Amino acid sequence: MSADTTPAVPRHLAVIMDGNGRWAQRRKRPRAIGHRAGARAVNVCIDFCLEKGIGALTLFAFSSENWGRPQDEVGALMKLFLNALDREVDELHRRGVRIRFIGQRERFSESLRARMAHAEQLTAGNRRLQLVIAASYGGRQDIADAARSLATDVANGKLQPEAIDEHALAARMSLADLPAPDLFIRTGGDHRISNFLLWQLAYTELWFTELLWPDLDVDALQKAIDDYAGRERRFGLTSAQVNPGAVENSPA
Ligand code: FPP
Repeated sequence: MSADTTPAVPRHLAVIMDGNGRWAQRRKRPRAIGHRAGARAVNVCIDFCLEKGIGALTLFAFSSENWGRPQDEVGALMKLFLNALDREVDELHRRGVRIRFIGQRERFSESLRARMAHAEQLTAGNRRLQLVIAASYGGRQDIADAARSLATDVANGKLQPEAIDEHALAARMSLADLPAPDLFIRTGGDHRISNFLLWQLAYTELWFTELLWPDLDVDALQKAIDDYAGRERRFGLTSAQVNPGAVENSPA
């Protein structure tokens, strides 16, 4: 790959929205209040992407592991997702946002699944921003699902095992039709991927902030993309290869 695969503004931004619980605890409020404040920060992030011309935004809203949280917190989150879908979808549609969901949606209630399907159908033709909500999503599950899909084709005689390479696997993963995330942001101070887009983040630039998700603002997002714009992405090559003409003085 060459330097021209690194646009100044990320084509695809992937975000772990962490810190809602601590935001609420610091105010001596229930964790659900933090999630509600987190929903407002989602709008800040979407507005930012629309303004900057970022084409795709993937948000980690609920992991496969989050089902193990206390029942009242899971219930509050489900209610919040339902309300957010009822409240926001028409406006997002009007603004040219395509909404879709990745993850095990069969684990959600019938009413939530119906709203997810409605949001996807209504906005399917939109092109300005692809908004992907990862819900009941796990990166390992995503890879396992892709592997099973290939194995099924092999078992049915539709695919030769020799034809399985990383491109074949990538084509069966979530987000196969989108460019891999250029930039990953995690709020809340922890420096880990937490079973998010494990496959898709292989060469993504990572950016972490101590800010708690509900405190996210335009300044922080701008800082993240400024930092990203100053990075040299080498994809395993040398600086001279990805940046011909520049004096090579950085280590591989
Ligand atoms: C992590 O913070 C956040 C979540 C598990 C939920 C994310 C949900 C939202 C931001 C709400 C709305 C989302 C949409 C798409 C409408 P945490 O609870 O783990 O925080 P902590 O680390 O401080 O405990």
